[in-house]
Amino acid sequence: MSWGKRADMTVHGDEPFNAEPSRAALADSAVTPAEAFYVRNHGAVPEIDPASWRLRVDGLVEHELELMLDELKEGFAEHEVTATLQCAGNRRVGFLEVRDIPGEAAWAGATGNAVWRGARLTDVLEAAGLREDAEHVAFLGADISDEPDPPEAFGASIPLDKATAEEVLLAWDMNGGPLPTVHGAPLRLVVPGYIGARSVKWLERVTVRAEPSESFFQASTYRLLTPETDPDSISPGEGVALGAVALNSDILVPDEGVGTGPLDILGRAWDSAAATQPEDPAHLWNPKGYVNNAWAKVSVTGS
Ligand code: MTE
Repeated sequence: MSWGKRADMTVHGDEPFNAEPSRAALADSAVTPAEAFYVRNHGAVPEIDPASWRLRVDGLVEHELELMLDELKEGFAEHEVTATLQCAGNRRVGFLEVRDIPGEAAWAGATGNAVWRGARLTDVLEAAGLREDAEHVAFLGADISDEPDPPEAFGASIPLDKATAEEVLLAWDMNGGPLPTVHGAPLRLVVPGYIGARSVKWLERVTVRAEPSESFFQASTYRLLTPETDPDSISPGEGVALGAVALNSDILVPDEGVGTGPLDILGRAWDSAAATQPEDPAHLWNPKGYVNNAWAKVSVTGS
């Protein structure tokens, strides 16, 4: 099943379905159409009956909530946010030239920019009433992944100060249409500025906690490890949990290959704090291949 994606997507796997657009498709427009938007799944896309679906809000709250989609849509103000999602494994392909990363896909462009509409998470948390000891907000999706042993639902958490920021949405709409199934319908979290893994799809449960989520996807993976660490034998909590996305850039056009050449084209960005990208991916290589924000480089040969 191709989930309505363009025929020229690179498909990294059918079950779970994982796919990314070509560089040319990403370069086509500032807002990435849903048909070209990358998909990163850790389990099979769940079958959800919208009529019986509920969002549960519990944990360190004054009143637990259980909301139908219509209650969410009618009871909370709707907001629009244009935001980029980016997988922590984006540009891993550059790391593979440094050293192999067994079991991880060679993502090049696991990123996309979309217009999301939905309710602000902070409004829903306010309706539930936060208790004083609240520090983190955890999320659970309806999909079960067999990457952990035993298998578990996909989960994540973000610190409370991010969860209460106005850009964090519970989204039911993408690019002006209903959120596509493969992107998390009926409801997904969108956490702009954080690695994509925190934007939980097929969202069913929001739990306010004093500590980060104990989900495998928060405590045991999507963590930055030292190069010599064996990622298969770490204890939960080892390494650094990835959150805010590092400064990055890439060259989409021209693509590698024949053009006006021979020529090496390099790209790097600076942010408003004058931080810039490191030159060499060899200094950034890590066992799961996350956060490659080295200089972008495209080599074109003479025609
Ligand atoms: N949410 C659930 N429930 N299951 C998942 O496998 N993958 C995460 C995140 N949310 C995932 C999830 C990861 S790793 C990324 S990068 C983004 O979703 C990708 O979102 P997209 O598939 O809509 O592009």
